Amino acid sequence: MLDIHAPAAQLQQPQRLRRTAGLRRLTRETRLTPDDFVLPLFVTQGENVRNEVSSMPGVFQMSVDKIVERGREAVALGVPAVLLFGLPAHKDASGSSADADGEAVQEAVRALKKDVPELVVITDVCLCEYTDHGHCGVFDTMHDSLFDMPATLARHADVAVSHARAGADVVAPSGMFDGLVAALRAALDAAGFAHVPILSYAVKYASAFYGPFRDAAGSVPAFGDRRAHQMDPANAREALREAALDVEAGADMLMVKPAIAYLDIIYRLRVQHPDRPLAAYHVSGEYAMLKAAARNGWLDERRAALEALTAIKRAGADFILTYYALDAARWLREDAESVS
Ligand code: PBG
Repeated sequence: MLDIHAPAAQLQQPQRLRRTAGLRRLTRETRLTPDDFVLPLFVTQGENVRNEVSSMPGVFQMSVDKIVERGREAVALGVPAVLLFGLPAHKDASGSSADADGEAVQEAVRALKKDVPELVVITDVCLCEYTDHGHCGVFDTMHDSLFDMPATLARHADVAVSHARAGADVVAPSGMFDGLVAALRAALDAAGFAHVPILSYAVKYASAFYGPFRDAAGSVPAFGDRRAHQMDPANAREALREAALDVEAGADMLMVKPAIAYLDIIYRLRVQHPDRPLAAYHVSGEYAMLKAAARNGWLDERRAALEALTAIKRAGADFILTYYALDAARWLREDAESVS
């Protein structure tokens, strides 16, 4: 019987649904699963190589044989996909080794598709790991601070086709250059890879949170920064324009990067493009911050990492590129086992 004289506080108590773990599980709105994760990997030359990145504990530059082991581990933990970055032996002004068939990324794609065929292999398409200046494009010889856009787009297109030829399931252009998605779509279609989808880094901010990645990938710019082509962290409406242009150009999936400082952007893209899979990249600096705090005993790593990943999904991401992919999959499995 409703007591109409009861104080309002007794009638309206949302915390009734939080009282037990069972009630919380029943009313939970966002559930992380290993299916949500993509594991980024750094492929290097040689054999049996496993160099830990100092600013990213638990992340390694690995040779192809070790990459395949990691791929098997991902599948065993239920993580559906990896994202590959390559470290070349040789760098030059145009990043000429980026589309060489014998490079680390191309070899790793072939090895993964042969040994772990169920794993989705996504390749990062960019030049910054391959250029001696560490920038993502080819410079105009007349104006040394400007990119030669036709040459830059053509190089990226060649790289994407080379990844597709090696067997990549998805290509992910990360340069944030105007016209990049259209250039890749045209080149892939012309080369017989109309079936290869594009995951566009549609909204990529010029972020300080990429710092550790540039150590991992050896892609610190030799001069300047990337603010003339990556987005200004202060802008949100512009992100909608970037995403709309990429969808128009044929992007099959969109990405926002970084994630935690840009949850509003993830949400806006989710609303603006409800029909496109949306990814978010929990980047190197976001990972490094959690690791550093955990190592100092300042945070509970497992809870903080799962909270961050849950927040990214809650904001609207369908999947998350994260260096925590394997750990998080393991933690989620342990949680599931502990309630059953
Ligand atoms: C290359 C690229 C970067 C990242 C992914 N692809 C670095 C950059 O743009 O400088 C960053 C990923 C991370 O920080 O984890 N263009």
